[in-house]
Amino acid sequence: MTQEKLRIGLFGYGCVGQGLHDVLNSSNGFKADIVKICVKDRSKKRRIPMSFFTFDKDEILNDDSINLVVELIDDADEAFKIVTTAMKRGKNVVTANKMMVAKHFRELVELQQKYNVSLLYEASAGASIPIIRNLEEYYDNELLYSLRGILNGTTNYILTKMHNSGLPYHEALKEAQEKGFAESDPTLDVEGWDAKYKLCIITGHAYGLFLDPDLVFHYGINTISKFDIQYAKEKGYKIKLVPYVGKTNDNTITSFVLPRFISSDKYLYNVDNEYNGVITEAAFADKQFFSGKGAGGHATGSAVLSDISANSYGYRYEYKKYRQGTVSHYSRDYNLEVYLRYNDEKDRDLFGFREISEYFSSRSYKYVIGIVNLERLYSLKEQLRNMDVFIVNTGRKVSVH
Ligand SMILES: NC(=O)c1ccc[n+]([C@@H]2O[C@H](COP(=O)([O-])OP(=O)(O)OC[C@H]3O[C@@H](n4cnc5c(N)ncnc54)[C@H](OP(=O)(O)O)[C@@H]3O)[C@@H](O)[C@H]2O)c1
Repeated sequence: MTQEKLRIGLFGYGCVGQGLHDVLNSSNGFKADIVKICVKDRSKKRRIPMSFFTFDKDEILNDDSINLVVELIDDADEAFKIVTTAMKRGKNVVTANKMMVAKHFRELVELQQKYNVSLLYEASAGASIPIIRNLEEYYDNELLYSLRGILNGTTNYILTKMHNSGLPYHEALKEAQEKGFAESDPTLDVEGWDAKYKLCIITGHAYGLFLDPDLVFHYGINTISKFDIQYAKEKGYKIKLVPYVGKTNDNTITSFVLPRFISSDKYLYNVDNEYNGVITEAAFADKQFFSGKGAGGHATGSAVLSDISANSYGYRYEYKKYRQGTVSHYSRDYNLEVYLRYNDEKDRDLFGFREISEYFSSRSYKYVIGIVNLERLYSLKEQLRNMDVFIVNTGRKVSVH
């Protein structure tokens, strides 16, 4: 069978755009040409001839000979305009932009149907780990109990340096920035937004619910202190930022992003630095573990290439679980056991702890371990930004409901 040669219009030639270019050049036998690249900054030096580049998005969007748009820019609002225009003009699209997909998930799914085009975004969650297509094709939602993992390379790098080298948070963050693992504005990563966007995309394919990210509780690592690392080490744990989604009953799921204690016998314990890892738990398959690089031009570019290749044989997400609608409810009425390090007793009282199992108070720090309700955490989300506290999910099963 002869396959029509793919003519790609690429948006963005930064870390992932260049990574994709290298990966594509190294892939023998795959027929695809990047015919035009749209970028933003006219003064930047490029490593390939300027004749490949344009600064006008319409040069790609209006070119009928371009049959695939690959969107790899770092601006979610502009990306949404590019991606939706391309789809409305009948072009298939591949993107790595998690914020854009998560914020407009339902609309993007509807546009695919309306204009009979495909939008693939494997690189948007877990970068090189092929989790979206696996969830889409492999797991039945009735039998998938839960999914959790490490989905943010920046925070994992920082936590690894804090744990292994004893670096304070700000030094570990600085090192991550110097090595290119963290943006100059790291807010989206360290506050847990990035992990939440990825979790919402994964939830769409794991359970068929397109959640508004605003409904999902997230908490990051930006208030972590040496006391928290010290406590974790004494108990033989590492702290990792772990997004979770799971069933609470047959047709309901819950989800959240929280730091979590991980003991040395757990898969995620050895997922360090910029690596990501995902654990699925299903009725019959039991526990499965995926691991791989969660950032970087070549690793992410490899997932983008995989989508380009899938597109070339007509693959598209069918959103079967959404259509089946077996899971129809989202709930934050969920109890979990957390460690709370705090300073002020008034702050602690806001959490409404039940069944306190550990309590410690010294001049330098205090902590409590007990059961809290996710709805209560969610109701505190604005206040938490200014509180001198750090929350970690202990990961222990809770029997109180
Ligand atoms: N880096 C990773 O490891 C990674 C992993 C997974 C997913 N992603 C996602 O991949 C996407 C790209 O990330 P990146 O790290 O490659 O970003 P980056 O290195 O900052 O590069 C961004 C590129 O987008 C271009 N750009 C920005 N606004 C534009 C506009 N309005 N029109 C045309 N081009 C525009 C920039 O142009 P100039 O070159 O002219 O500045 C630059 O080439 C993001 O959505 C990111 O979340 C990244």
